[in-house]
Amino acid sequence: MPSTYPPLNLRVRTPRLTLAAATDELLERLAPVVRAGVVAEGEVPFDDPISLYEDSPVREWRWMQAVWRGRARVDASFWRLYFVVCDDGEPVGMQDLIGRDFAALGTVTTFSWLAPAARGRGLGREARAAILHLAFEGFGAREATTDAFADNHASNRVSELVGYTPNGTAWATRRGEPAELRCWRMTRERWAERRRDDIELSGVEECKPVLLSFR
Ligand SMILES: CC(C)(COP(=O)(O)OP(=O)(O)OC[C@H]1O[C@@H](n2cnc3c(N)ncnc32)[C@H](O)[C@@H]1OP(=O)(O)O)[C@@H](O)C(=O)NCCC(=O)NCCS
Repeated sequence: MPSTYPPLNLRVRTPRLTLAAATDELLERLAPVVRAGVVAEGEVPFDDPISLYEDSPVREWRWMQAVWRGRARVDASFWRLYFVVCDDGEPVGMQDLIGRDFAALGTVTTFSWLAPAARGRGLGREARAAILHLAFEGFGAREATTDAFADNHASNRVSELVGYTPNGTAWATRRGEPAELRCWRMTRERWAERRRDDIELSGVEECKPVLLSFR
């Protein structure tokens, strides 16, 4: 049954995967992946702090709380849409779209993670292409940016392959130590040159009044 709340009915379909709005039912189906561990032993954090580095079951609780908190906050300065990445119907990770001052600036950022077993098969690249399609085609974004720690080769490579251009560097703390970020930028013009015609959006029009009514 569709949700009363339009952001929970959003869906992006590509020939390879589906990004389905993270309803509680889907979070429950993804929870075993979080419980099993999204982070390999000894791996340096890809984000910090983040619930995925806690021990189970606090990890699952904090992860759900973070999604609920983020879902509830929708105002002119910030919103975040949470999607579950489904591979052949199976939940394998998350792909988020974040709008900061979106009504005024039209800019978005993205964040994603996949279960270790689902990585390295092109799903990360496809999920990013899918979320950009939602941002640019669906919501009329002007620019998308992203960043990743300099040694996060998978994430940086996805940004490069999808067509972002380098946008300098920045710093963030990682386990209390400064760590360099590589920043990336995709303009609407660049996205339009690469626009795909095999990605299908649903639920966008109903969602716009929720996210864009701050003009
Ligand atoms: C980042 C992430 C979502 C990318 O998804 P993925 O499915 O693993 O990546 P893909 O299979 O689509 O690979 C895209 C490209 O990155 C390359 N790549 C993937 N993993 C890599 C690795 N560990 N080292 C170097 N390159 C890598 C692939 O070879 C491919 O490039 P190619 O086509 O030139 O060969 C996934 O690896 C992940 O969940 N990582 C942990 C969480 C994370 O870092 N999130 C981002 C936070 S900023």
